[in-house]
Amino acid sequence: MNASVRLDTDHHVGEIDRRLFSGFLEHLGRSIYEGVYDPGNPLSDADGLRTDVLDALRPLHMPYVRYPGGNFVSDYDWRDGVGPRELRPARTDFAWKTIEPNTFGVDEFMKWCGRLGTSPMLAVNLGTLGAREAAALVEYCNLNTGTYWADRRRENGEAAPYGVKLWCLGNEMDGPWQAGHVPADEYALRAQQAARLMRGLDPSIELALCGSSKHEMETYLEWDRVGLEYCWDDVDYISAHRYSRNDDGDTPRFLAEGVEIDRILDDYTGLLAYVRGVKKSSKRVYVSFDEWNVWYKDRAGDGGWATAPHLIEEVYNLEDALVCAQYLNSFLRHADVVKIACLAQIVNVIAPLLTSSDGILVQSTYYPSLLYATHAAGHALTPVVECATYAAGATGEAPVLDVAASHEPDSGRACVFAVNRSQSEGVDVAVSFANQRAAAVLGVDVLTGDDPKAHNTWDRPGVIQPADGAAEIDDEGRVRVTVPSLGLAVLRLELARP
Ligand code: AHR
Repeated sequence: MNASVRLDTDHHVGEIDRRLFSGFLEHLGRSIYEGVYDPGNPLSDADGLRTDVLDALRPLHMPYVRYPGGNFVSDYDWRDGVGPRELRPARTDFAWKTIEPNTFGVDEFMKWCGRLGTSPMLAVNLGTLGAREAAALVEYCNLNTGTYWADRRRENGEAAPYGVKLWCLGNEMDGPWQAGHVPADEYALRAQQAARLMRGLDPSIELALCGSSKHEMETYLEWDRVGLEYCWDDVDYISAHRYSRNDDGDTPRFLAEGVEIDRILDDYTGLLAYVRGVKKSSKRVYVSFDEWNVWYKDRAGDGGWATAPHLIEEVYNLEDALVCAQYLNSFLRHADVVKIACLAQIVNVIAPLLTSSDGILVQSTYYPSLLYATHAAGHALTPVVECATYAAGATGEAPVLDVAASHEPDSGRACVFAVNRSQSEGVDVAVSFANQRAAAVLGVDVLTGDDPKAHNTWDRPGVIQPADGAAEIDDEGRVRVTVPSLGLAVLRLELARP
């Protein structure tokens, strides 16, 4: 099968925000306890932080990690997790029916961020707490005022403010499952109050308003419209979440997820333009896609009032990794609208890494994040793709290829990210540039396999991992690359002006 991808580096969608490669860590199952914090384990450092997990996460270059939830945050009191450990109370966790020991809290998270080389994105509880407690957390983290909470931070060992820049105003507050769920107009009031108190203390912070928790919600977009119209001047982002599913075993449909993700981002593009228009505002609000992933195989969310139970430890296969690549492609194609995106989550719970007491397993979904975070940089381009289409079930007719591209004007480097959705046929792609020619192929990384369900196991950890591919430049400066069936190809090029 043949296809073509045409690019023009003089016309780009926008700057690729590095925050698109962020992650999400929630107090859920074995994510914190045993995942990142495992005191006494020989693999942990003196602070109880798992060094093997830190080492495995570091190459993903996550600029931000969202914390502490998720559903967990909506009944979490951050004050329980600071101060001397022996005085911290164990609490019930409403969201996942577990016991939260509170031995890991904000200060431990900040330390962990420092070790990883990432920055915190903190969510505040707007379910069962409100503006006052949210503002107190801003004071604790960001101020040096000689006031109660700023002084508690000093007392707890951190003299300098943490300077937390990104904040989420609650989590999925449209969901009836959420502690303290309220209708849109009431949430908008809460969010605005919190935003004003929080920014009153630190005007430099950026705030994300809860958008719809999923496309399937009856109030999808309408919830977002209400919140945005009320809080437009108080917020910087509207959050979007999506977990892709293949419960029905319909791989052709599942592999067309990029089409659905594009639709959602197109919806938000329209909604944000609409609200900006009715507000007659010159301000821009962007999308923070702060939870995205595949999640459907292990949905059991009842922890039976245990501490750190094995909960939603999804096993990821090849088709899941190809869907993850399409999320990242879609974010690049919408680089003008989506500025933050968090892979949900990062350790043990719906995560690219699983831990045991003596090691980690790297899952298939690790690799798209690794490849994109390493190679997508500069401007996001708009690929003009000509390729065959196929019947993708409920999604309709979908292109066989899902493509995104980036270009760094200073270095002249470009990168093409192509997913082949066909399960049986490779695609020979001709990549050309309207205004430049390919001077050199810097490399091709390929993630592929014969079986969409193939996955890494503790016994066979290398089943799904990237391998080197090949590409050639023809006399006219076009590049020929084959994207294998069920494959992601990342083509890295050096360009030259003709
Ligand atoms: O990431 C798991 C859960 O999914 C989060 O707690 C919640 O925000 C979402 O529904």
